[in-house]
Amino acid sequence: MRIIDLRSDTMTQPTESMRRAMAEAKVGDDVFGEDPTVNRLEEMAAERLGKEAALFVTSGTMGNLVSQLAHCGRGDEIILGGQAHTFFFEQGGSAAVGGIHPRTVPNQPDGKLALEDIEAAIRGDNIHFPKTRLIILENTHNLCNGSPLDTDYMKSVGDIARRHQLKIHVDGARIFNAAVALGVKPKDLAAEADSVSFCLSKGLAAPVGSVVCGTKDFINEARRARKILGGGMRQAGVLAAAGIVSLNEMVERLAEDHANAKKLAKGLAEMPHISINPDHIHTNIIFFDITREGIKPEKFVQEIDAAGIRMLPVGAQKVRAVTHYHITSEDIDQALDVISKVMSK
Ligand SMILES: Cc1ncc(COP(=O)(O)O)c(C=O)c1O
Repeated sequence: MRIIDLRSDTMTQPTESMRRAMAEAKVGDDVFGEDPTVNRLEEMAAERLGKEAALFVTSGTMGNLVSQLAHCGRGDEIILGGQAHTFFFEQGGSAAVGGIHPRTVPNQPDGKLALEDIEAAIRGDNIHFPKTRLIILENTHNLCNGSPLDTDYMKSVGDIARRHQLKIHVDGARIFNAAVALGVKPKDLAAEADSVSFCLSKGLAAPVGSVVCGTKDFINEARRARKILGGGMRQAGVLAAAGIVSLNEMVERLAEDHANAKKLAKGLAEMPHISINPDHIHTNIIFFDITREGIKPEKFVQEIDAAGIRMLPVGAQKVRAVTHYHITSEDIDQALDVISKVMSK
């Protein structure tokens, strides 16, 4: 039975051309700055995001953590969404490791933080308060239906940050999805950000790795933070080689993943006892609610799994599905067929 795995775009396997590039990669000791393939990936990433420099790190979690450690000191405060991956799913790393204090504001359904909420959360000069240093935005926003944040919104947040001398970090794990969905360049989405971290190992299908981009000074600090976290890798060019293929070959095709997600959302919207608004789906992540009494997401997921369809139960009623490189339009037909049978049992 073919397994159609819609649990996450992290399920992607390296392509043939990645495997070849990995086998043939020229490598050196990257902690000495001597791995030519890592250096090449970092140059390419910096160029794509419109920044001076970049740093290859093991994961999105490490990318976000080294960025926070580079921007903030102990006792500084960051403003971020209550649904932010950095807040929700990264073990509170910046507090645990860096003594950085998180201040959450609500995410709007489209992943944005309301501008007035950001303004209201910024601390004044008062001996009782921590110092606000950083705003973190997530683009696309995982828990908010993979919503992309557009350049107008980024400009508005940029204005606030400048007025209050704050930095902006973008958790751009899927910023290439955002750029493709909005028809803009990643560097346009990153223009207001002091730092951006993006993942190679999600929709871009590399086996491992993320890249952080920013000024040279910021990257020097992030490199120090990476080292103390044990993230200084040696002949990491074997991994970076796959990342180079990601940037060269895997970006434009993300549009297919978005079309498949939309198709899945539209198909689900037509089924009884499933609630989803396809108009809210712009990239590769969809969430839907099972509204039928007696079918909890865990049971639903078990039943479709028995027919080769994998999704993630994520709440009392919610299920998540993510499209990616290994999912075809026919797979979506198959998934819809299985779901329709399970729901009409
Ligand atoms: C928005 C977002 N940021 C960061 C991460 C963390 O990436 P990693 O799993 O590589 O640590 C994820 C992972 O799913 C994510 O969705």
